[in-house]
Amino acid sequence: TKGAAMVTAVASRVQAQRKQIDEVLALFRLTLEQLVGVQDRMRAELEFGLKKKTHPLATVKMLPTYVCGMPDGTEKGKFLALDLGGTNFRVLLVKIRSGRRSVRMYNKIFAIPLEIMQGTGEELFDHIVQCIADFLEYMGLKGARLPLGFTFSFPCRQASIDKGTLIGWTKGFKATDCEGEDVVDMLREAIKRRNEFDLDIVAVVNDTVGTMMTCGYEDPNCEIGLIAGTGSNMCYMEEMRNIELVEGDEGKMCINTEWGGFGDNGCLDDIRTQYDKEVDEGSLNPGKQRYEKMTSGMYLGEIVRQILIGLTKQGLLFRGQISERLRTRGIFETKFLSQIESDRLALLQVRRILQQLGLDSTCEDSIVVKEVCGVVSRRAAQLCGAGLAAIVEKRREDQGLERLRITVGVDGTLYKLHPHFSRILQETVKELAPRCEVTFMLSEDGSGKGAALITAVAKRLQQPRKE
Ligand code: GLC
Repeated sequence: TKGAAMVTAVASRVQAQRKQIDEVLALFRLTLEQLVGVQDRMRAELEFGLKKKTHPLATVKMLPTYVCGMPDGTEKGKFLALDLGGTNFRVLLVKIRSGRRSVRMYNKIFAIPLEIMQGTGEELFDHIVQCIADFLEYMGLKGARLPLGFTFSFPCRQASIDKGTLIGWTKGFKATDCEGEDVVDMLREAIKRRNEFDLDIVAVVNDTVGTMMTCGYEDPNCEIGLIAGTGSNMCYMEEMRNIELVEGDEGKMCINTEWGGFGDNGCLDDIRTQYDKEVDEGSLNPGKQRYEKMTSGMYLGEIVRQILIGLTKQGLLFRGQISERLRTRGIFETKFLSQIESDRLALLQVRRILQQLGLDSTCEDSIVVKEVCGVVSRRAAQLCGAGLAAIVEKRREDQGLERLRITVGVDGTLYKLHPHFSRILQETVKELAPRCEVTFMLSEDGSGKGAALITAVAKRLQQPRKE
C-alpha cells in the first residue's frame, strides 16, 4: 500500500543519510597500521631535528633548553614566575623550602586582550610588565628584585638558560616585531621603560620543561614533559652525545621537541582530512603546526565545527541550515567538547549545550554531534599517543634496555578536563610501545613551580663556588 511504501522510502532515506555520516566519521578512525606509521615518522623527524645536517630543515625542531639536571631538593628561596602562552597569563610568587620539598605559591591571573596578543611586541611586553607591577604592589614586594623564571610557551632557540629567541608565534599569538628577537631582552627593555622596579631574569622555560621539572621533583624517573592543552608539545631528557647542536658528550640535556610542527613537510598528508585543511587555512599560521592542529584544545573544536558545517551542507544536520553561530570561529571550546562527551550526560543535556552555543538541534542532530566530537578527540589522543610511543621507544633503544620504566609529567586542559582523552592516550602508548612501562603523572602547576625550580637550580649554578 501507499503508506507502507512511504515508510520504506523514509527508512531508506534515513539509511542513506546514515551511510553518508558514517563515511565522514570513518575518515577519522585510524587503524593500528596507520598509527604505527605515525609513530615511525615521528621517530624519523626526532632524529632529523637532532642532527646538525638535517636540523635547519627539520619540522620537529628539537631545541636544546640548557636544562641539564633535575632539582636535588636543596633548592630554596623566593622566586617570581611568569606564565605566558597557556590558557591564562599569570604572575606567581613561589617559595621553595629545602629539605621538605615543599613549595608555596601565590598567583594572580591576568587577561591578555586579543588586541594585545595580536598587537605590537612592545605593547605586549609593556602589558606584561604592567601585570607584574600590579602583582608586586599587591604582594607588597615592589623593592625586592627577586630572581625570575619566565615560562614562555612558544618555540625559542636558546644559547643559554637565560636567552631565548622566538622562532615563530604559535596558538593564538601574533604580536609583531617579536620573531627573531630575544624575549628576555624584550622583557628587560619593557621593565626599563617602566622604570619602577628591577628584576633578575634568570631563566626562560618552555611549559613542557616546567612540567617535567615539577614532576621530577617528586619522581626522579620523570624524564618527559607533555602538554595537551591549548597547544600540544613534549620535551624529554636526551643524551648529550646525541645532541649535535651542543658541544660536549657527557650527561643529558632536556630537548624541547616542538612536535606541534610535525607534518609541516607533508608527512601526515595521508591522514589529514579536508576538515583539517580548512582548520589550517582559517588559522593564524597556515601551513604550520599541523600535528598541533590535529591534537590540541585550541583546534579540536574547530575541526568539529568544520565537520558540522560539511554535514549541514550535505543536508545531514540542522535541517540543512547553516546558522550564523555555526559560521563563527572558536565556538567549541575544550570545555564544551568535554561536556558533550561526558558519559554521564543525557542527550537532552547535549541538546541544551548546543542550544547555549546557539545551535538549534533535534535529538538526532545531538547524537551526530556527539559522535563527531568522539571521533575527533579520539583521533587526537591516538595521534598524541603515537608521538609519545616514538619517544619512549627511542629512549629505551638509546639506553640499550630490554624494558624501560619511565614517567611522563603531564599538564594541559585537554588532558585534565576531557573525559576520555587521557585514557585513550595511555592505551595507545601501551599498544605501540609494549616494552615500555610508562607512568603518567599529573603536574600541579608546572608552569609556575617548574619555572621557579629551574630558576633556583640556575641561580645555584651561577653562584661562584666556595672551595
Ligand atoms: C605550542 C608551543 C609550545 C608549547 C605548546 C603547549 O605548541 O609552540 O612551545 O609548549 O604550545 O603550550
